[in-house]
Amino acid sequence: MYILGIETSCDETAAAVVKDGRQVLSNVVASQVEEHKLYGGVVPEIASRRHSEVISQVVQSALSESGVALSEIDAIAVTYAPGLIGALLVGVNFAKGLAMSAEKPLIPVHHLRGHIASNYISHQELKPPFLCLVVSGGHSHIIQVEDYTKLTVIGKTRDDAAGEAFDKAARCMGMSYPGGVEMDKIAEDGDENAFRFPRPKVDGAPLDFSFSGLKTSVINLMHKASQKNENLPIPDLAASYRKAVVEYLTDHFMLAAKMTSSSKLVVAGGVSANRLLRRNLQVLTEQSGKKLYVPELKYCGDNAAMIASQGYYEFLEGNIASMNLNACAQRDISL
Ligand code: KG4
Ligand code: ZN
Repeated sequence: MYILGIETSCDETAAAVVKDGRQVLSNVVASQVEEHKLYGGVVPEIASRRHSEVISQVVQSALSESGVALSEIDAIAVTYAPGLIGALLVGVNFAKGLAMSAEKPLIPVHHLRGHIASNYISHQELKPPFLCLVVSGGHSHIIQVEDYTKLTVIGKTRDDAAGEAFDKAARCMGMSYPGGVEMDKIAEDGDENAFRFPRPKVDGAPLDFSFSGLKTSVINLMHKASQKNENLPIPDLAASYRKAVVEYLTDHFMLAAKMTSSSKLVVAGGVSANRLLRRNLQVLTEQSGKKLYVPELKYCGDNAAMIASQGYYEFLEGNIASMNLNACAQRDISL
């Protein structure tokens, strides 16, 4: 079965064709990141406009690169939530128009379910049930994936997401958007024990995260240093901060694995590209006799192959949208 996936939830216009949920035939991503860098973050209005300009070409390229004609596509899967509303609307409306004119079923895909599905592409043998840490620019969740379309959130952030915590601290350290990527590189040459940052506990919710205190502590440290005309060593600061964020994530994830007796641990979302997170989890899972799955680097960030992959499983479940499908800026992954 051939699924055409379309993704426009943030600053990547993406389309892909995936066979039977697992085999990527094409994966086209038009990134706007260089333009948003000028403003230090994604400008929603610009994102929507760029999606509108390039979406037809991106979908056409995905179809022609796959060698599958539109008439042979079985269904069109589109990210409808969560994300920037104006950005989502471009993809949803394009997908609706295409589905209507080509008389194809339209499948609504939750963006985070898509991130989880990137692991189905990278690991052909992976099947639910498993425990998943979803860490992106907008979300940090620990999720029990009972089946492809049955998911339960057992831990989540109370404020900033992990990616946001990286990006905001990185910006303060003078790195360009999205700072998480650059911080990860610079941190490789720093002393991760040079500074100590807090790892806040959320009362009564041991699997929940709170990143705002962590972020504020690095910002305060930098402000105090600049008031005294001191220059802090950025590689050491980046390495120590990355260690704090990563250990905070892995402590929660391994505790959740213990609490739920999960033997398969999966990581998804943009932050799953983080080198220290991947290294540390590899060691921790080996030590505890569990198996770790992380997406290949090319599927960590936003792409449409993951949307087509999840779309296949939603389609098998009969999850087909009507032509009234709307985009939602926020939506629970379990719905
Ligand atoms: O999943 P994603 O591409 O978009 C959203 O759905 O939000 O995630 C983007 C986030 C950004 O915050 C970015 O800084 C972060 O993922 N990110 C990283 C790395 N690569 C991307 N954070 C830490 N280390 C990385 N290597
Ligand atoms: Zn994403």
